[in-house]
Amino acid sequence: MISVLQTCQPRPEILAGTFNPEVFTASLSPIIDFYRKGRSSIDHIYTNAQQFFDEATYPTQGLKTTLTEVFSRIAGDMTVPAIHRLETAFGGGKTHTLIACTHIAYQGKKLEGSIGEILDPNLLPAPGSVSVVGGSSNTCAGN
Ligand SMILES: Nc1ncnc2c1ncn2[C@@H]1O[C@H](COP(=O)(O)OP(=O)(O)O)[C@@H](O)[C@H]1O
Ligand SMILES: [Mg+2]
Repeated sequence: MISVLQTCQPRPEILAGTFNPEVFTASLSPIIDFYRKGRSSIDHIYTNAQQFFDEATYPTQGLKTTLTEVFSRIAGDMTVPAIHRLETAFGGGKTHTLIACTHIAYQGKKLEGSIGEILDPNLLPAPGSVSVVGGSSNTCAGN
C-alpha cells in the first residue's frame, strides 16, 4: 500500500514555511465585488476562476450535484429545483459552492477547459447571459 506521505505532496508555500491560512477563508462578497467592480482584496485563488477550479476545488459529489441542478435549471430544465438550500456543518463547503456558482454564472463557456470533472460543459451558459444577485451570505442566479 502507498502511504499518505508518498501520495500527498504539500503545497510549495507549506514546505517553504510561508503559508498564510487566511488565503483559505472562503467569502462570497469579494467575488461578487470582483465581477462588479473589477477589484478585490481576496486571494486570487478565489477570484481567478480558472485557478479556483484547477487548483482549489475538489469535485465532491455534493458540489457536482448542486452545480448540475442549478445550471440545468438555468438552461431551461424545469424538472430540477429552482431553489436550493445548502446545509452542511461549518466548513462543509457552502460558501465554496456559492463561489463556484458565481464564477460559472458570470463566465460560463469561457471555463470549458477547467470544468470537465465538475460540470458537463454543455450546461455552461453563454458569458453575460445570467443575472447574478448576491450578498455576503446568499446568492442566486437566473436568466
Ligand atoms: N470542494 C472543495 N474543494 C476544495 N476546497 C473546498 C471545497 N469545499 C470547501 N472547500 C474549502 O474548505 C473551506 C471551508 O469551506 P466553506 O465553503 O467556507 O464552508 P462553509 O461555508 O460551509 O462553512 C474553505 O477554505 C473552502 O474554500
Ligand atoms: Mg460559509
